[in-house]
Amino acid sequence: MGYRRKIVAGNWKMNKTATEAKEFVSDMIEALGQFSESDVEIVICPPFIALSKCVEAMEGTSVMQLGAQDMHAERSGAYTGEISAEMLKDLFCRYVILGHSERRQYNGENDEQVNTKTKAAIANKIKPIVCVGETLEQREANRTKTVITTQVTNSLAQLSTEEWSDVVIAYEPVWAIGTGKTATPEQAQEVHKQIRGLVAKNADDAVAEKIRILYGGSVKPGNAEELMSQDDIDGALVGGASLDCESFTAIVEAACGDA
Ligand code: PGA
Repeated sequence: MGYRRKIVAGNWKMNKTATEAKEFVSDMIEALGQFSESDVEIVICPPFIALSKCVEAMEGTSVMQLGAQDMHAERSGAYTGEISAEMLKDLFCRYVILGHSERRQYNGENDEQVNTKTKAAIANKIKPIVCVGETLEQREANRTKTVITTQVTNSLAQLSTEEWSDVVIAYEPVWAIGTGKTATPEQAQEVHKQIRGLVAKNADDAVAEKIRILYGGSVKPGNAEELMSQDDIDGALVGGASLDCESFTAIVEAACGDA
């Protein structure tokens, strides 16, 4: 198996004001400074309006990178309330979460829109973290495999091999998000392996070997290491536990432990 550097990404969702974010980032830089950049890639995804304050707090350090929680596919124009890739790039965002299940659920986002956004992000040199995952109902109806195949194939349709190499995929079973229920390492590994197979089929073996596939859904200090020690789990997308400096640091440590 080739070496894949792990990513631990914090999805803050709609939490923390810009002022709180700046203070929190300063605390995190202090806590995370012990980890070398080469061990693990650390990404934080605050709300849009906190990004510039986070940039200020991160000045002069490269402990972590910045990401956004969504973006619009168009460059600019009459799209009230939206944020473009160019705007994110101007604030040094290196990553953007796309197709998170909460956006699919509350904002009606579908695979085709996620696909358009993914292409726009890559064109702007922002790495997309494309989220896929089944609901409880779909899992119980034994539809997990089909749902994942459809989401991966359609959200990542028509990408060149070069574009594929900028993609990060996050497997987040909807029933595990914010519920305290985590997929067992075996359940997660099974889907991660399936996703890697889909990447081999849709891109090629070399891309499949290199692509990072993160697990998300109630990742905590207590379960992070076991999840990330699975062959095809290359890091974590962390919601709730990324809002607390101590628990996020412990998850980063778990990723290093398994590096
Ligand atoms: P959670 O969220 O860690 O709070 O379950 C994960 C996510 O939605 O990315």
